[in-house]
Amino acid sequence: MHCSVMGREALEAAIENYRTGGKKKHELQGNVICTCFGVTDREIERVIRENDLTTVEQVTNYCKAGGGCGGCKGEIGKIVEKVQGEKVKLAPAAVPGRAGKLTNIQKIQMIQQTINEQIRPALRAHGGNIELIDVEGNKVIVAFRGMCAQCTLTEITMKDLVEAKLREFVADDLFVEEDEDPAGL
Ligand code: FES
Repeated sequence: MHCSVMGREALEAAIENYRTGGKKKHELQGNVICTCFGVTDREIERVIRENDLTTVEQVTNYCKAGGGCGGCKGEIGKIVEKVQGEKVKLAPAAVPGRAGKLTNIQKIQMIQQTINEQIRPALRAHGGNIELIDVEGNKVIVAFRGMCAQCTLTEITMKDLVEAKLREFVADDLFVEEDEDPAGL
């Protein structure tokens, strides 16, 4: 058994004896999985969670379960799978090409990358271009260049292409505005 586990159990037993005057015997909590060493499912689950264990051998090292006849190893394996499976379910789902919490630097880099890879090629195909001017919180300020600068449909391009792509690849709450003072024109 792992020294820290033995120490904790000894301390818990001593505290309980102190509280009850040594009259109350320590009761096992949960169902005994390893009869060789009297280790319960709750104890096994606890060591798996606390130490992020992924194999039966690791469980044996930490709480001795499975270290005798070996007849409980299948059950221990199931507990490992159950606990690790719960952790996978609790982890936030990863969205390809998008990040969860972004720093400002990361956000600006992703916006620039999305413009370069997803938006600019579509505009260039029609003789236009786009430039990232600034990012203020969730507001992305852009300037249209080339054919796009004279186009009367920039409002539609901005919402249906630029804003849609940035929301798809960077963050749902971004909105796009055109630079009101386009110095480059
Ligand atoms: S029952 Fe667990 S090692 Fe024997």
